[in-house]
Amino acid sequence: MVCLGNICRSPIAEGVLQSKVNSALVFVDSAGTAAYHIGNAPDKRSIYIASKYNVNLKNQKARKFRVTDFENFDTIYAMDESNYQNILKLAKKNAHIAKVKLILNEVNPLSNHSVPDPYYGGTQGFEKVYMMLEEACSIIAEKLQNER
Ligand code: 4NP
Repeated sequence: MVCLGNICRSPIAEGVLQSKVNSALVFVDSAGTAAYHIGNAPDKRSIYIASKYNVNLKNQKARKFRVTDFENFDTIYAMDESNYQNILKLAKKNAHIAKVKLILNEVNPLSNHSVPDPYYGGTQGFEKVYMMLEEACSIIAEKLQNER
């Protein structure tokens, strides 16, 4: 799960998807394309919204997306178009490019919608982001289930 800072959107996506899958079988992680918040905990507003739905983000720490993630993960979900393009810039093989998806295309295929960046807004923006990611992660979890 990849966003810009790895403190608002992708920590929610990581927590929500991990809560929906068997953690012995599926490993979910998140990262940011920017380095501003490396080592930081998720934004308090993300922690708060997720905790309302019993999803714990408190053990997460921001890190930057790295090229080795292309090898270590089967799918890389970008939260928005800009993250998507920045991840693709780091990809050197078709097999890596093929792993990168816009997360909301799981909900509305080919629509290329972005999860809006809630950083400069209020709590309401985080609630909206949570709902979008909850829907997308339900679909992803179901697909992972059917793959087995
Ligand atoms: P995120 O949100 O990409 O969802 O983690 C942001 C966090 C920090 C900043 C921008 C977006 N920032 O500019 O510091």
